[in-house]
Amino acid sequence: MTDTYAQLVSKGPAKKIARKLGLPQPAALRRYEPGQPLLTGPVLVQGSSSGADELAAALLGWDLDVRRHAVPREKLAAIVLVLDTISSPEDLEAPVLAAAASLRDLAPGGRVITVSRPASDGVLPAAAAARQGVEGLLRSLAKELRAGATGNGVLLAGDVAPASPGALAALRFFLSGRSAFVDGQLLTVSTGDGAVPGNFDKPLAGKTAVVTGAARGIGAAIARTLHRDGANLVLVDVPAAGDHLAAVANEVRGTALQLDISIEDAGQRIISHALQRRGSLDIMVHNAGITRDKLLANMDHARWSSVININIASQLRINDAILADDRLGKAPRIVSVASTSGIAGNRGQTNYAASKAGVVGMVRATAPLAAAAGGGVNAVAPGFIETDMTARIPFAVREVARRLNSLQQGGLPVDVAEAIAFLSSDAASGINGQVLRVCGQNLVGA
Ligand code: NAI
Repeated sequence: MTDTYAQLVSKGPAKKIARKLGLPQPAALRRYEPGQPLLTGPVLVQGSSSGADELAAALLGWDLDVRRHAVPREKLAAIVLVLDTISSPEDLEAPVLAAAASLRDLAPGGRVITVSRPASDGVLPAAAAARQGVEGLLRSLAKELRAGATGNGVLLAGDVAPASPGALAALRFFLSGRSAFVDGQLLTVSTGDGAVPGNFDKPLAGKTAVVTGAARGIGAAIARTLHRDGANLVLVDVPAAGDHLAAVANEVRGTALQLDISIEDAGQRIISHALQRRGSLDIMVHNAGITRDKLLANMDHARWSSVININIASQLRINDAILADDRLGKAPRIVSVASTSGIAGNRGQTNYAASKAGVVGMVRATAPLAAAAGGGVNAVAPGFIETDMTARIPFAVREVARRLNSLQQGGLPVDVAEAIAFLSSDAASGINGQVLRVCGQNLVGA
């Protein structure tokens, strides 16, 4: 679905009128394309800890143009603010105001990324206040950025070092065009693990990925993105979507498995198909989902049970089958598609929000089990994404909904797919049990 308004106000007299009236002027986002450089200008690393020094050295290793001090009026592609050692709210001022002095030099599509520690249990109150303070400042700053620039944070749990492979993988994702529609989010890195990909353009080479609901929409975009990143694919959808599924499978040289994921033995069938046709199952993407919207006062059994069954109960059953199956050797990396409706709630979607909040709960509880079996499980929560589903929303409601985020536009299916591709990769193996919103910093919800 095209965003006609965004196109209209991007040029000519309409651009001037929109500016004069203070109307939204969504910027074209910097999206990833294979072969493109990670950044096209200097990156400023602010912060005085040894972790900041090590992180700056690691970025030099990626051939980036790294600054430890701002050069007046030099355009910056990114600012990385390393705050891993702050222990009281007063510690924030010097590094934060130093970074603030460079904000006007941030190029369109730029990135501001904080690297800090979560305010977890056991931390002294002053340190917890400072750490939580970073989250507040980051989320506010992201709302101040313009021209397609985004602000996100890496949270280092325990003693994870800023320059550990796990932390660098999250930082690289946020710096890159792969995170174009991720804004105002903080991603926790629980262990320093994470393999540095031999080839950043094909991080999934040699992996077999299963994607459910792959016949269209976000699922088809996930299939295309994982294929682009080198994965072999098994694509699952209901028999009624067989023709579309076959077309996507042909396009990405995957195999098609016509299967309703809500049947009892769907997990075993998926595993057997992946092993027989592809030899392994390394990545499991739970994307298939449905909506059956009604106000709760008008809700009925069919609407409630079908949504719960397909959106969450099926995922639980398939994960149980995967984690119990000795044939797999080690557990795959599992990524589920949740929704901001499950986080913030949405009128008319009690059934859907219960199922998607259920995905969030399931991911957190499954994470230790998956990690013990050598895998991991995370979720992506999309906000307003331009799909057939959102194209059916009445015009005025749609126009408001797609502007209600810091980037003032809807995301594209590929934006969700990029986050899933990242979380599926070995580089993200230090990230487990997390929910990453791909919502342009939607104004509703945390
Ligand atoms: P869609 O309706 O275009 O595609 C969903 C696919 O899942 C379809 O191909 C459908 O046949 C398949 N599917 C449904 N039930 C199935 C079953 N029992 N077994 C196997 N396949 C089944 O939906 P869209 O928009 O691409 O959404 C994909 C996911 O993203 C869903 O989980 C949805 O809840 C979620 N999402 C979408 C958002 C949006 O803005 N479009 C926002 C937030 C979350």
